[in-house]
Amino acid sequence: MPFIVTEPCIQCKYTDCVSVCPMDCFVEGPNFLAIDPETCIDCSVCVGECPVGAIVNAAEANAAQRPYIALNARLAREAGWPALTTRRPPLADHAQWRDVAAKRHLLRHPLAPEPHAGGQ
Ligand code: SF4
Ligand code: F3S
Repeated sequence: MPFIVTEPCIQCKYTDCVSVCPMDCFVEGPNFLAIDPETCIDCSVCVGECPVGAIVNAAEANAAQRPYIALNARLAREAGWPALTTRRPPLADHAQWRDVAAKRHLLRHPLAPEPHAGGQ
């Protein structure tokens, strides 16, 4: 099974992972990265690069991590989640969030419906 990005990435997005992936599997959202399961070759080199241990083998995911298997697959297919292959600075408040365990509710999604101004 492919590798997946899980909860510790949310609000941090260190991006060390993208620079080592030989298959350019990563896609980027506002405050999270996901791995495209169709291109991941299970090489595992990205795992040790993530400073918060967010990347795991889907086959070894625990109960809390298992929902991220479908989430990675879905986000990798969505418009607004482009490929990211170059490392960049982490999010500004990464230090505040890196040790917070429960962050799933903070995942931002660019395709979330926006309210229409003026009823249009
Ligand atoms: Fe890329 Fe290998 Fe990580 Fe898959 S396991 S996302 S191919 S570095
Ligand atoms: Fe996220 Fe870790 Fe990569 S925090 S961006 S999975 S290095």
